[in-house]
Amino acid sequence: MTGEPEIGDVFGEMIRDAYAVATGIGPRPMAGGRLPRPVIEIIERDDGLVNGAPAGHYLDPPQRWQPHDHRAVDRVRGHVLDVGVGAGRIALELQERGVPVTGLDTSLGALRVSRHRGVRDLVHGTVDEHAADGRRYDTFLLLGNNLGLFEGRERAPAMLAALAALARPGARVIAHGTDPYGTTDPVHTAYHERNRRRGRFGGQLRLRLRYRLLGTEWFDYLVCSPGELAELVHGSPWRLADVDDTDHPYYLATLELRR
Ligand SMILES: C[S@@+](CC[C@H](N)C(=O)[O-])C[C@H]1O[C@@H](n2cnc3c(N)ncnc32)[C@H](O)[C@@H]1O
Repeated sequence: MTGEPEIGDVFGEMIRDAYAVATGIGPRPMAGGRLPRPVIEIIERDDGLVNGAPAGHYLDPPQRWQPHDHRAVDRVRGHVLDVGVGAGRIALELQERGVPVTGLDTSLGALRVSRHRGVRDLVHGTVDEHAADGRRYDTFLLLGNNLGLFEGRERAPAMLAALAALARPGARVIAHGTDPYGTTDPVHTAYHERNRRRGRFGGQLRLRLRYRLLGTEWFDYLVCSPGELAELVHGSPWRLADVDDTDHPYYLATLELRR
C-alpha cells in the first residue's frame, strides 16, 4: 500500500454512482452499509488544495441549469458535437428539441450513463482522435466549464486545430468559462502568482480527480479571463466573436471559424 490512487476512469465511476443515487439503477453507494453516501467529486490541485463538490448536478434537467447553459443551447445551429458530454444533460435536451447531436467523451463510464439515459449518438475519444473519422459539425459545445480543455498555451493551438478539422464552413464553438481573477482569497491569489512566475496563465490549474481508490493522472485545466482566451485564439483558425458575461464571473465564449 502506497496511498497513491490507482489510475482509472474516475469521472465514469463517480457518475455511475451519482446516477444510482438519482435513479435507483445499479448499486447505491452506502456509508456503513446502511446510510446513503453522498457522491462527491474530489479535486486535488498541485499546491495541495483539495475541494469537493456534489456530483449530482451533472444529471440535472434543464429546470435546474444555470442561465448560461440555456443561452448556450439556444445558440446552437446545425449538427452539434457536445465535447465532454458527461452524463448527457445537454445532449438529451438537444435531442428533445430535434437538434442532431453527437456526444464525445474520454470516459467510458460517462458514455455508458449517457447511453442509458437515452443519448443516441456517442463517440469515445478526444477531438484529435475524432477528427480522423471524417464526420463534420456546425457547432461545438464545451459546457460545464469545459473551456478548461484548452489547458494552456501549449495545448490550445492543437485543440483549436482539431476543432477546425472537424468543422463545416461557418462553424462555431460555444464554450463555458470562468474568469478566476475576481477572487481575493489568498489561497487562490498566491496560486495564480505562483503559476505566472512559472510562465503559466494564473488560472492554469494543475489537477487530478479522485474517487474512492481511483485517481486520474495530473492534468492542466484552464480557468482563464476572456482576455487570456483572446490571446490563445489569436492566430488560430478561429475568431473570438462574442463573450457573454451576463452571469459574471461565468461567461460563454463564441468562436467563429475564419473564412
Ligand atoms: C466537467 S465535466 C462536464 C460534463 C458536461 N459537459 C456537463 O456540462 O455536464 C467534463 C467532461 O469532459 C470529459 N473529458 C475530459 N477530458 C476530455 C477530453 N480530452 N476529451 C473529451 N472529453 C473529455 C470528462 O470525462 C467529463 O465527462
